[in-house]
Amino acid sequence: MAFVTVHPVILDCGKLKAHYACRETACSPRRNRVRLLTRRSRRTHPQRLVRAAQEHVEQTSASEPIVAGNGAASVYCYIACSPLKNDYLERVLNARVYEAAMETPLESAPLLSRRLGRRVLLKREDLQPVFSFKIRGAYNMIALSEPSQLKGGVVAASAGNHAQGVAMSAQLLGIRATIVMPCTTPSIKVDAVRQRGAEAVLHGDAFDDAQAYALRLAEERGALFVPPFDHPDIIAGQGTIGLEILRKHSGPIEAIFVPVGGGGLIAGIAAIVKRLRPQVKVIGVEPFDADAMYQSLQAGHRVRLAQVGVFADGVAVKEVGTETYRLCRDLVDEIIRVENDEICAAIKDMFEDTRSILEPAGALAIAGLKRYVQRETLSSSASPTAGSSSGALVAVASGANTNFDRLRHVSERAEIGERREAVLAVRIPERPGAFRSMMNALGPGANITEFNYRYASPEVAHVFVGLTVADRRGAAEAMAKLEAHGFVATDLTDNEMAKLHLRHCVGGMGGPDFSPANEIVYRFEFPERPGALARFLNGLRGWNITLFHYRNHGSDVGRVLVGLQVPTAERAAFMEFVERLGYSYEDETQNIAYRLFLRPTQASLT
Ligand SMILES: Cc1ncc(COP(=O)(O)O)c(C=O)c1O
Repeated sequence: MAFVTVHPVILDCGKLKAHYACRETACSPRRNRVRLLTRRSRRTHPQRLVRAAQEHVEQTSASEPIVAGNGAASVYCYIACSPLKNDYLERVLNARVYEAAMETPLESAPLLSRRLGRRVLLKREDLQPVFSFKIRGAYNMIALSEPSQLKGGVVAASAGNHAQGVAMSAQLLGIRATIVMPCTTPSIKVDAVRQRGAEAVLHGDAFDDAQAYALRLAEERGALFVPPFDHPDIIAGQGTIGLEILRKHSGPIEAIFVPVGGGGLIAGIAAIVKRLRPQVKVIGVEPFDADAMYQSLQAGHRVRLAQVGVFADGVAVKEVGTETYRLCRDLVDEIIRVENDEICAAIKDMFEDTRSILEPAGALAIAGLKRYVQRETLSSSASPTAGSSSGALVAVASGANTNFDRLRHVSERAEIGERREAVLAVRIPERPGAFRSMMNALGPGANITEFNYRYASPEVAHVFVGLTVADRRGAAEAMAKLEAHGFVATDLTDNEMAKLHLRHCVGGMGGPDFSPANEIVYRFEFPERPGALARFLNGLRGWNITLFHYRNHGSDVGRVLVGLQVPTAERAAFMEFVERLGYSYEDETQNIAYRLFLRPTQASLT
């Protein structure tokens, strides 16, 4: 087995004076830690060191460094080994996971199978003792480490499933564990780590701060840093899932669907499946708003996303790993991306078949599987000779650690994700009997799920209506029926502002001195932490709030719709304020849902 081992690198003002060697050696995480030194110590900017180190590791095909210390005198980085591809078979076969993890069932999903017309199997990683697969990789890496590496314990940075995996593994092995979490981590997650006997250290606002601190802590304590995905032992631990799937289902498998965050899970599964049954497709699934692997594979190199959506927090990763990227590039068949509403629908599918509830990342693979079937069905009906194989479709149900509060949002959106609910805005005459004729236009079978009425003028009212529909075409069919009877309808099924806020708003009617021309409406994602609202309000410089809607979705961010009176001359100052605030935002002032239902018209003010 050959691995690249990088020896201490001497850097001079960003220029590399380094040497490294390739030698026959076992992979040792301790040996991967490289200390980068500068001659001109304090005068050399750390960023230059990092850049030089990056150049260096690109040459050696090792991973990018993660900066742990920012002192000018030295920068530490971790460099992952580059084991040969085939080596993973051996690593997976020799992985130590079953002292901590269970061999989970591969179950059929009869209802989903019937609906899709395909045999669907679910790999139940939500049944692991920590309710996710993460115990496999974490335990494997720690258990395979030399006792000398573990003298200072283990350190990890995570606010999610990796934290639980590391904490439980360390507890089982009798090793001290420290988990660094961002200060914003909900107390339920902090408590869960403490219950597993680990020390929880809260540091920084963002995950990157926590990770940098964790690396520094590991260095100071001589502890083993356990990364969440980018390490061969983590990848191999997760790869045992692939082995179990192949062993449990010896019949044909068309594809295995795997959720992708940093890529450790899919890299492990792909490495083993492509070695043992290369004809089985391995398909990754990512949310559209957290698609770092998709973007990287498209670009041909790792892409760092500026922002990621946190709905599926288990896979909210800005940058995939070096080793995981390499394996995915070579072995993964494709990445399918899905909307968050489709994830909600997948959570419901899982519930209907098993009465279990998955977290959003845990249901991602099911959502991807459904999209795949839809696409393949369409393409085979377009060209019937294309016909696909009839092997089983397997989805990895990867975890179940969800906030109970989040389920409200999930149940609200599941029908839309399934396209079984359409949301329409309909303009109706402001006179008695108008609602009845609208219902008549929709026909006797129409099932109204939601109805909000808003007076717009003495002649016209706007109706926000939810309807049960059979499939994706339902919204267009309902609109056609309405229009045939002279109603003007707008499809809001994909209008995020309408779905998140409008259905809960009572309207933003202003007083007699209100000038609608001055009103702007913004949608924000506030961090769910004390002080986030105060920071917003304190920066408002006297701009009048005309509308404010916040609803807790049990997520790490609070979704807020705000209306403000900002005179045109002050719009630039407002934009400056919004940029400084740093919360992600969307200008909704031109959104049709706002204009129809919330924006007061001159007529309504007289
Ligand atoms: C429930 C769940 N699913 C999927 C993933 C993605 O795994 P990876 O980061 O190895 O791609 C994670 C990662 O933590 C997770 O917690």
